[in-house]
Amino acid sequence: MPSGLDATPRAPAYTPEVAARTAHLYERVKGVIPEPEWPVHAAEIDAIQRLKRERNAVVLAHNYQTPEIFHGVADIVGDSLALARQAAATEADVIVQAGVHFMAETSKLLSPEKRVLIPDPRAGCSLASSIGAEDVRRLRERYPDAPVVSYVNTSAAVKAESDICCTSGNAVQVVESLGARRVIFLPDQYLAHYVALQTDVEIISWQGQCEVHERFTGAELEAYRRQFDELAVIAHPECPPDVLAAADYVGSTAQMIRFVEERRPRRVLLVTECSMSDNVAAGVPEVEFVRPCNLCPHMKRITLPGIRRALETLAPAVEIPPALAARARRAVERMLAVV
Ligand code: 13P
Ligand code: SF4
Repeated sequence: MPSGLDATPRAPAYTPEVAARTAHLYERVKGVIPEPEWPVHAAEIDAIQRLKRERNAVVLAHNYQTPEIFHGVADIVGDSLALARQAAATEADVIVQAGVHFMAETSKLLSPEKRVLIPDPRAGCSLASSIGAEDVRRLRERYPDAPVVSYVNTSAAVKAESDICCTSGNAVQVVESLGARRVIFLPDQYLAHYVALQTDVEIISWQGQCEVHERFTGAELEAYRRQFDELAVIAHPECPPDVLAAADYVGSTAQMIRFVEERRPRRVLLVTECSMSDNVAAGVPEVEFVRPCNLCPHMKRITLPGIRRALETLAPAVEIPPALAARARRAVERMLAVV
């Protein structure tokens, strides 16, 4: 194919200048990225940094992104709640969402005037795809007195049918803020179960699950505890109940990271998507990480070359029909007003 028609721009080169400009970043990740891999990442990182300046763009990266994205090009990192807040606050013209599609939609809802790019729109989520707007309408007909709380891991169409959103970091507060006797809580049945253990509000749940967290078992955690002494087991609330019962601490990805950074346990097992261990390990070299590796295939669709291409072409951009967006935005903003 003649080069002028080539849809995939050539990868940037690793030069001595690039090596010098990225050396400080390699210092940060040298414990988790092998040296022979660094030149390829560094050339992409350097090109992305330049494009971000040219486009007045920021990269919002979820805690599950790979270390070269998380430490190399992200301007803002965090859990779903932090990313939603930062999307609303940023003054950039362009947001690149290094995360999954529902996160990019949430950013677009909160920054409708900005261009929000998702480097690979196929980056979905098994929770978001487990429920549609029609399912929510049917639940409302069945339980007309119960407000609908939807996890942010849902499509804009589902958010538009909901009274309020929540994340793993604020679910209990959001449920209790409604003053209702019972609520419909969707779509994660395990997060719903976890919330129900901590509140007197009756929780009506849906049968969605995260395909990454549902794979962990309580028996597996007990086996790790037998193998490694002094092991702090920290789990995400999307895990099944037997896993949460076997954990020392349960929290959102940001709360899990805070636990490790503040308490600095000798050994830790983060029961969640495994890139997060690499990202946290880079900052706490004295903590030993035990790593069962469950990867989220959707999060892993986001790569440095994909981020670069998105910045070069300003596509693919997230678009949400304005009437739908207005209803979905209300549910997200209502959450942000609670916590
Ligand atoms: P957090 O909001 O805790 O980061 O979780 C998002 C997610 O997709 C977990 O699987
Ligand atoms: Fe969805 Fe699970 Fe992936 Fe999070 S880890 S984006 S909940 S599939």
